[in-house]
Amino acid sequence: MVFSETRFLYTFMLLMFSSHVLKYPEAATDTITPGHHLNSSATIVSAGEMFELGFYQPTNSMNYYMAIMYKNIQEDRVVWIANRDYSVTPSAFLYIGDDGNLAIRHGSIIYMVTDLKLTNSNVSATLLDSGNLVLRDENSSVLWQSFDFPSHTFLPGMKLGYDSRIGKNWSYISWRSSNDPSPGNFTLQLDPGPEKQIVILNGDEIFWRSGAWGDEGNLFEFPPGIRMDMYNFNFVSGSDTAYLTYQLYRKDLISRFMLDATGRLTQVLWSDKEWSLLNIQPGQPCDVSKYCGANSSCSNSNLSLSFCSCLPGFEPSSAELWNKGDFKEGCSRKNYLKCDMERPGTAEDGFLELSNVKLPRNQQTRVVQSFRECRSACSSDCSCSGFSYTNRNCSIWRGDLINLQQLPADDISGENFYLKLAAADLGTHKSKSNIRRTIIVSVTVPITTIFGSALFIWQVKKKRDKGKGQDLLTFDVTMSLAVRTENKPSKRRRQAEHEKEVEIPLFSFSSVSTATDNFSFSNKLGEGGFGPVYKGKLLKGDEVAVKRLSRKSGQGWDELKNEAMLIAKLQHKNLVKLLGCCIEGDEKILIYEYLPNKSLDRFLFVTIAIFLLPWQTRVRIIEGIAQGLLYLHQYSRVQIIHRDLKASNILLDEDMNPKISDFGMARILRGSEQRATDRIVGTYGYMAPEYALEGVFSVKSDVFSFGVLLLEILSGIKNTGLYLSNSLNLIGYAWDLWTSNRPLELMNTDLQHKYCPNAATRYINTALLCVEERAADRPTMLDVVMMLNNELAILPSPVQPAFLNARSRLDSSQRIPEISHNKLTISVVVPR
Ligand SMILES: *[C@@H]1O[C@H](CO)[C@@H](O)[C@H](O)[C@H]1NC(C)=O
Ligand SMILES: *[C@@H]1O[C@H](CO)[C@@H](O)[C@H](O)[C@H]1NC(C)=O
Ligand SMILES: *[C@@H]1O[C@H](CO)[C@@H](O)[C@H](O)[C@H]1NC(C)=O
Ligand SMILES: *[C@@H]1O[C@H](CO)[C@@H](O)[C@H](O)[C@H]1NC(C)=O
Ligand SMILES: *[C@@H]1O[C@H](CO)[C@@H](O)[C@H](O)[C@H]1NC(C)=O
Ligand SMILES: *[C@@H]1O[C@H](CO)[C@@H](O)[C@H](O)[C@H]1NC(C)=O
Ligand SMILES: *[C@@H]1O[C@H](CO)[C@@H](O)[C@H](O)[C@H]1NC(C)=O
Ligand SMILES: *[C@@H]1O[C@H](CO)[C@@H](O)[C@H](O)[C@H]1NC(C)=O
Ligand SMILES: *[C@@H]1O[C@H](CO)[C@@H](O)[C@H](O)[C@H]1NC(C)=O
Ligand SMILES: *[C@@H]1O[C@H](CO)[C@@H](O)[C@H](O)[C@H]1NC(C)=O
Repeated sequence: MVFSETRFLYTFMLLMFSSHVLKYPEAATDTITPGHHLNSSATIVSAGEMFELGFYQPTNSMNYYMAIMYKNIQEDRVVWIANRDYSVTPSAFLYIGDDGNLAIRHGSIIYMVTDLKLTNSNVSATLLDSGNLVLRDENSSVLWQSFDFPSHTFLPGMKLGYDSRIGKNWSYISWRSSNDPSPGNFTLQLDPGPEKQIVILNGDEIFWRSGAWGDEGNLFEFPPGIRMDMYNFNFVSGSDTAYLTYQLYRKDLISRFMLDATGRLTQVLWSDKEWSLLNIQPGQPCDVSKYCGANSSCSNSNLSLSFCSCLPGFEPSSAELWNKGDFKEGCSRKNYLKCDMERPGTAEDGFLELSNVKLPRNQQTRVVQSFRECRSACSSDCSCSGFSYTNRNCSIWRGDLINLQQLPADDISGENFYLKLAAADLGTHKSKSNIRRTIIVSVTVPITTIFGSALFIWQVKKKRDKGKGQDLLTFDVTMSLAVRTENKPSKRRRQAEHEKEVEIPLFSFSSVSTATDNFSFSNKLGEGGFGPVYKGKLLKGDEVAVKRLSRKSGQGWDELKNEAMLIAKLQHKNLVKLLGCCIEGDEKILIYEYLPNKSLDRFLFVTIAIFLLPWQTRVRIIEGIAQGLLYLHQYSRVQIIHRDLKASNILLDEDMNPKISDFGMARILRGSEQRATDRIVGTYGYMAPEYALEGVFSVKSDVFSFGVLLLEILSGIKNTGLYLSNSLNLIGYAWDLWTSNRPLELMNTDLQHKYCPNAATRYINTALLCVEERAADRPTMLDVVMMLNNELAILPSPVQPAFLNARSRLDSSQRIPEISHNKLTISVVVPR
């Protein structure tokens, strides 16, 4: 046995600033007024008793600080400190000075908390339930607020970034240690560069970066793993301003981000008795910028102790330091390049292909005509150390290669990198062929050939109505939904509808804008793959969901057409309904029925009992999704492949009935056709192997996604919720339990056995059939619906599902998956 069970736990513990907080007498007020002294035995408490302001003494410390703390939470409760750089003793007190400034008096020393030039001294300081301490003048104008001077905690409503118009710069500084709130080495701030991203600095050096916000429409992926379902992020940017802010969808939850003393950004949620860790960044060594130094490769999944290795043809710059585990010096070439030495006669330098890597940082990209042109651009440039080429984009790196990461074989998100090497080094490194991503050349027939006629009608209608869209505010939603709510039309009827012209109401931009309060932040429901979604209110009080395709997303127009055409024709109670659209100038907007309970992932992947979906609701959701998908697959004479079925694309109405949404990526197939594409879109974790690896999709790739979704609904565990891709994933976990005859251990433990075991077993069996490796072996949705509903059906036994090869070397019996969501532990397997 090569790999033993010794597990090296990266314990990212919550910092417990378990404080020796003094017992204060109950304070009746939330406000400090002139003449009022807040001494070490007094506090002020916000009106709703969320926060209190008072003295805080860290554990094992003689120092006192004036701090804002959660009122009813005893552990790790400090969110803001007034005097980080100057600690006091219990004799100090906080007061409002004669000039109206907030200050701490410590013996003869006066520490100014605020430094305002005031003409009026009638000033008061109030602690709000948001945790914000605001200083107001007699007319209640805000003169100063603690949210503008963050400590280490980023609370809902706070900002991260800058607004030069008002001279504000919001950045967060870590504590020195968990018991010392004085400013530490790490700063969380917005990257001043052109990319919209946040960074953590260690001193002046970048320690971690989030990756660009909104990069390639992956708005959900920012920052990796952060719970977007609970947080409503908003990135505000303009010429002088750029900041990130957020709110919690549920105001009754207590959650926050904070920068801990070790430089990690942690996201925690208060659940009854303790802080649950939801996310931590950087979560793995390779996420730390330059962890392995220059010219090396970092691998989080390396099963040996070391995460760092030199690139082929390179050796540690300092073997001594490297062997001690200090990789900062990086690696240098074993043999100089020909062009470095200007030594004619030696063989030409060449390139070694490194496949499936996360590319190094700081490339220069330009458009070229071919791979060969890109390669020769690097060959002829002596300072070029490597290149990569995708779809005519040629990226070139000069000098040090930093942050190159080798991805494991089962994570296919990597790209190929071509490393320039001296001939002497090339010979010794035969191109390692890792599992390579094969892309089958596209044979996609344009979608318009199928819906061509309908599209034409639509365009004509669009022309006719140009410039005078209908008024959304007076639109009759109920009527529109009633007319189009027909469940299972007969086959002939469906066919007739297929031929029918598509009439989608076109609304005026001004009415859409008014309905959403000018697309205000407070109306924002979330961010989809192609742009933000807002809630709109019509005159009669009806609500609609407004999806505004982002202008910069080049795909917007096609996606809009695609989605509008498809969905306007589809009528099923388990598909979300399109009410109309709006096209004016650059604006492309789709308007849907509003579903108050938002998406399924918000309910599924949470640990708190208030959110827990009861078994009957789960059954209804599963059956509804299966019905919706069956309808798509059997619609008329064609099949509609959704291609991005996942929990966040299942919306829930007020009775928790599921509706499939987001048809931006859907495609139409005829008969039992399968299709290949070179543009693989979808969500990792839900993609069938033939689609993820070869781009082949069919109804069976949707069946696979359905299987994953089914396992997630039963277990409450997210299939992609693991950091280490060579850990067991949810499918593997379910399979292991199935083969060891303990299938029901998969069930969400919070359900506490309040479910029907026979049905649950049948569902798990069905799910495992859906995720089989060979598409042909998977059932159709019609089979699935029958398996789910028929209690007497004898189901076939599943065979080993897809995506288990990568871990087959591991002894699975030793590996208990660390996938509980309230305690994220990251495990790495190391040899004994
Ligand atoms: C703090 O102030 C309260 C009243 O404001 C007073 O009763 C108490 O004695 C003071 N405590 C100290 C230690 O000065
Ligand atoms: C201070 O302002 C409050 C109202 O905000 C007012 O009631 C009070 O009279 C003012 N005091 C003085 C000294 O101006
Ligand atoms: C408060 O409002 C009054 C009346 O509008 C004005 O005269 C006064 O200057 C204001 N005070 C401050 C501090 O702005
Ligand atoms: C904000 O403050 C940080 C840290 O002091 C600094 O690095 C950054 O450049 C500032 N940004 C702006 C836009 O002033
Ligand atoms: C902060 O920086 C100082 C000086 O560079 C160093 O001694 C200390 O260990 C650092 N602290 C942390 C938590 O990295
Ligand atoms: C894993 O680490 C070892 C030792 O450092 C190295 O030889 C090997 O190339 C690494 N594997 C990967 C995939 O990075
Ligand atoms: C890394 O490799 C590049 C390109 O060969 C070279 O310019 C640089 O000096 C190397 N860095 C180190 C630390 O040796
Ligand atoms: C090529 O580069 C452009 C500009 O940087 C970018 O918008 C585009 O997405 C890139 N294409 C690919 C396939 O990476
Ligand atoms: C709506 O927003 C646009 C662009 O942000 C702005 O120019 C316009 O003035 C706003 N209109 C209203 C009524 O707020
Ligand atoms: C779903 O939405 C309805 C209407 O807003 C609400 O009454 C209900 O409590 C919601 N259900 C859940 C489980 O949140």
